[in-house]
Amino acid sequence: MAGDGLPHKRWPKMAAASQDPDSGVHFNILRHFSEVLEENSLRLADKLEAAGDVTAAGDVTADVVPLLSEYTLHSICETAMGTKLDDEQKDEGRVYKEAIHKVGKFMVESGSYVRFINHRPKDGSIDDKGIQEEVDTFMFEGHDTTATGLVYLLMSLACDKMIQDKVVEELKEIFGDSTRPATMQDLGKMKYIDCCIKESLRLYPPVPFIARILNEEVVLSGYTIPAQEQCGQAPLRYIPFSAGPRNCIGQKFAMLEMKSAVSSLLRKFELQPVTRPEDLEFISDLVLRNNGPVLVSFKKELYNRFFSNV
Ligand code: HEM
Repeated sequence: MAGDGLPHKRWPKMAAASQDPDSGVHFNILRHFSEVLEENSLRLADKLEAAGDVTAAGDVTADVVPLLSEYTLHSICETAMGTKLDDEQKDEGRVYKEAIHKVGKFMVESGSYVRFINHRPKDGSIDDKGIQEEVDTFMFEGHDTTATGLVYLLMSLACDKMIQDKVVEELKEIFGDSTRPATMQDLGKMKYIDCCIKESLRLYPPVPFIARILNEEVVLSGYTIPAQEQCGQAPLRYIPFSAGPRNCIGQKFAMLEMKSAVSSLLRKFELQPVTRPEDLEFISDLVLRNNGPVLVSFKKELYNRFFSNV
């Protein structure tokens, strides 16, 4: 299904809309998107109750993997595709998502990922099938990656109370006692959260490998690498969104989405650890996936302490 879309030919529409050739997504579009993201983030907090084991006090322990995957799928459908997935359409969304996962799994198992990303249409034209593939690429890159980033960010914050408190402190400075939704400006003020997200992407890069096949021979630091050689990135690199002409065109969107989700959740819940870093067992996939659930406990008390007038 993802077909030729995964070669990562830069999406013509998005690239044309961009003033910054590296951003891919225009700032004004992001401003509009941020409102949609915020709505979805508020819904995410509400959905938590339905998602896990609720205690008498209303605290919830939930596997954040499916929860965040649904959240980012809704967000990308509504922002990039202009399609709102309501409850009736949820199943269609899930079927679509499962199909994307199957393609991803096949590509990893067959080793065809590198062949896919190296293949490019020669004349640059795009027909209906091409558009479908671009949409699938965008949907895949746009939801599973960000969900994965959020999964390990929430787990990490749950496991480090001191850092979580600093995040809450920043949110208090921005919002005071207000329960108003976050604006684009608010998201811009979340400097500490920005650092937490970046650190989490360093520790748990959602795209754990980036590979290329050389079209021609290259000499690097005196070493000759022959054409057709497959190259991966160095293990200690920090390039969560890749770099160069084929880098991630959704990185600004992804940072906004992650800030919106984490701020919305931390304004309502205190996170407490269940799954810890030492419990993780990564499995082979296009994104950094744990072999099992990633559980986080959401404690409601903080909500009342934080917003005294609620
Ligand atoms: C934390 C979230 C994200 C991470 C870590 C991430 C990471 C990456 C990486 C590493 C690549 C390069 C892959 C390669 O060259 O093999 C990439 C490409 C891409 N990403 Fe993202 N991404 C994220 C979110 C998004 C979002 C939200 C969107 C869409 C709104 C998106 C759209 C794309 C597209 C279309 C490409 C292909 C670009 C091209 O080849 O020209 N990504 N991403």
